[in-house]
Amino acid sequence: MMNLRQPGNTLVVGLQWGDEGKGQIVDYLSEEFDIIVRYSGGANAGHSVKVGDMKLGLHLVPSGILRERVLCTIANGVALDPEVLFEEIDVLREHGVSAEDRLRISDRAHVVMPYHKLEDKLSEAALSEGSRIGTTARGIGPLYADKASRTNAIRVHQLLEPKVFRERLKDIVARKNRVFAALYDAEPMDADAIYEAFTAHADRLRPMVCDTAHLLHGAVADGKRLLFEGAQGSLLDLDHGTFPYVTSSNSSACGVSVGTGVPAQVISTFLGVAKAYTSRVGRGPMPTELDNGVGQAIRDVGREYGTTTGRPRRCGWFDGVATAYSARLGGMNAIGLIGLNVLSQFDEISVCTGYELAGRRIDHFPSDVDVLEQVRPILEPVEGWKQDLSGCRRWEDLPTAAAGYLAKIESILGCPIVAVTVGPERQQLLLRPA
Ligand code: IMO
Ligand code: MG
Repeated sequence: MMNLRQPGNTLVVGLQWGDEGKGQIVDYLSEEFDIIVRYSGGANAGHSVKVGDMKLGLHLVPSGILRERVLCTIANGVALDPEVLFEEIDVLREHGVSAEDRLRISDRAHVVMPYHKLEDKLSEAALSEGSRIGTTARGIGPLYADKASRTNAIRVHQLLEPKVFRERLKDIVARKNRVFAALYDAEPMDADAIYEAFTAHADRLRPMVCDTAHLLHGAVADGKRLLFEGAQGSLLDLDHGTFPYVTSSNSSACGVSVGTGVPAQVISTFLGVAKAYTSRVGRGPMPTELDNGVGQAIRDVGREYGTTTGRPRRCGWFDGVATAYSARLGGMNAIGLIGLNVLSQFDEISVCTGYELAGRRIDHFPSDVDVLEQVRPILEPVEGWKQDLSGCRRWEDLPTAAAGYLAKIESILGCPIVAVTVGPERQQLLLRPA
């Protein structure tokens, strides 16, 4: 039987629309690993970590930074925002955690600049309500667009070369100013001011920068243990998610090799993290959404408010079609199910096991969001356990009805659940006995 503590390298990835509770699993696992690797997204991610009794929200620094012997890597696929990075490093230092000496940043990563964040806000604001994505305004879309179009991109190794950086920045800001003025009637940005601020960032970044792909290949060869930490969720993947209501990177398991330069074959445990229900922030289809008292009850008990933007999350029942799609997409061989206790309040719980489209049952996850908007979830009732689980400390403590709920989800996903959480604390993570 698969269990959470397998030998070898592990990927932890969200199977829904983000906020699955990946941080809690990574926090638990990280003490057994040598290196934690972030491979996609940027400061749009949000995970809460506990330092002593303090709860901190991190966006860019991997959750593993709290484990003293762990090296944390921000690989090439990540949108590196130096302003956020140093803010987080400083807050960590105030709480007695020194991050700088245990962080390695890829020289191939792309740098989020102030004009990316500005463009994210301006372009969303200029769209009609119906056309907005509902982004986190962290500049993620504009950054990856510049990466793909190349001429306006700044990679970390270019930021570190003052002359190269100054030249590129001058040209880019001139182009951006013309575009922003024409499209949004925006005030021009001052390239010199950006240059000053970012050369200071460059000086602070320099000691942490390296070729992380090279570093990771060496680590694999030396038998070090790697934990790849996904950000966002598989359904927000640029290619495989609910496009266009997705993020701009490959946030599913498919992004690991692209985002790190390490072949996925080094990974033996593909651990998919899903909530026992569903949540989503931002716009886009969500077939099991409950815009009623039940949805509100899930939001209240699950404290479903965004770490990055504070927005209330949309909540609903577990969507077996969408989550099974993600599990297959990434080749999951183990599942961590988060927030089981949030469902303790219900006499009866529903699980979506299929979609109905124009009166016919479909079992696949549609590619077209307009189709996904039209599907009706086919819900199957599952008996509730009607008892608080927050005090459970071992798998065996779970009531029969809760075990029945887990069995139902395993049969939908075709994959064993190896851990569940019944609350946010470390001791509220229960491991399936081997
Ligand atoms: P973690 O790592 C949940 C969503 C945004 C929006 C869409 C595009 O905490 O699970 P973007 O700013 O990326 O261009 O926004 O993606 N989104 C997330 N939702 N959790 C996240 O990260 C998210 N990162 C982006 O709400 O709908
Ligand atoms: Mg989050």
